[in-house]
Amino acid sequence: MNKPEIIKLPRFLDARGNLSFAEQNNHIPFEIRRTYWIYDVPGGEARGGHAFKQNEEFIIALSGSFDVIVDDGHNKETYTLNRSYYGLYVPAGMWREINNFSTNSLALEFGSMHYDEADYIREYDVFLKLKKDGKI
Ligand code: TYD
Repeated sequence: MNKPEIIKLPRFLDARGNLSFAEQNNHIPFEIRRTYWIYDVPGGEARGGHAFKQNEEFIIALSGSFDVIVDDGHNKETYTLNRSYYGLYVPAGMWREINNFSTNSLALEFGSMHYDEADYIREYDVFLKLKKDGKI
């Protein structure tokens, strides 16, 4: 998969409360090596202005809502996540930012790699150059 994609997760609706789940190599199209979450985001803040060289991601708004802006170097697409039964797959080599966090929102992220600062591209012009040269 080399394009971002919204993936609808299974839902078990129940008067006692609903349940959803996501499985590795199934709904989440990679082997999960890491999970992290973003919480207590003050209104108006943005996170994640960077790209990964190799790390793939799967992002769920477990609570509240936020926008994920994914940029392939040519086009920018905004994905609004506002239900806990949708996930956004983000392939490697995409510039992405998360903003528009609602109060008390909770972003759960799965990654295909362990944390590695060397996998980050943190400067947009460097990202564009690597894209242009076909290196990512
Ligand atoms: P960063 O990925 O830059 O945050 P965001 O993309 O949401 O703005 O991570 C912020 C800091 O957290 C960074 O200095 C390193 C640390 N960190 C880890 O140690 N492990 C991780 O898995 C992540 C995602 C971040």
